[in-house]
Amino acid sequence: MIKLIWAQDKNGLIGANNKMAWHCKEDLLYYKSLTMGQTVLLGYNNYISLMGYYKDKPLPYKTIYLLTHRDIKIEGINVIHSIDEILNLDDLWVIGGAQIYKLMLPYADYLYVSLIKGDYVGDTYFPEVDYSLFDLESKKESEVASYLVYKRK
Ligand SMILES: NC(=O)c1ccc[n+]([C@@H]2O[C@H](COP(=O)([O-])OP(=O)(O)OC[C@H]3O[C@@H](n4cnc5c(N)ncnc54)[C@H](OP(=O)(O)O)[C@@H]3O)[C@@H](O)[C@H]2O)c1
Repeated sequence: MIKLIWAQDKNGLIGANNKMAWHCKEDLLYYKSLTMGQTVLLGYNNYISLMGYYKDKPLPYKTIYLLTHRDIKIEGINVIHSIDEILNLDDLWVIGGAQIYKLMLPYADYLYVSLIKGDYVGDTYFPEVDYSLFDLESKKESEVASYLVYKRK
């Protein structure tokens, strides 16, 4: 099962200068409640971004797959050079960034989208999604965001 999870504004913006484009505590708690202790896939830029937030604390996941072309070794992290290595995992959360979402969208069984309210400025956008391929499974509203879950038809 492959699940993509991300937060975007109404224009599909997801990042600014290799960081989040907003600080939304409620969405962060939602994201953590789903992904903490899970198996995740992330791209090199997102990894660098997260390290900026976590500093020397370990990232809060059970198993981490990091996609890069670089020949690097990082303790506690499975550095991979192709998605072939992860397509058959039982349960995988794809946590970005944009390049990794684009690569994994064709394989997504579920989409967990947080639509963050407000206007933001940034430089990184979620790839185009054909929502006709998905059913909306749930929607929760709050003052700051809408939390949508889509399941592939
Ligand atoms: N709003 C959200 O929910 C959310 C979530 C996550 C991230 N973000 C934001 O997204 C931005 C980062 O996204 P991004 O698109 O710049 O970067 P990214 O997707 O995190 O990482 C891109 C890197 O992944 C590696 N890569 C991509 N395709 C590959 C392939 N086929 N084979 C091997 N390696 C591959 C390359 O690394 P190498 O250059 O090392 O080869 C590439 O430079 C940041 O602003 C971050 O804050 C937002």
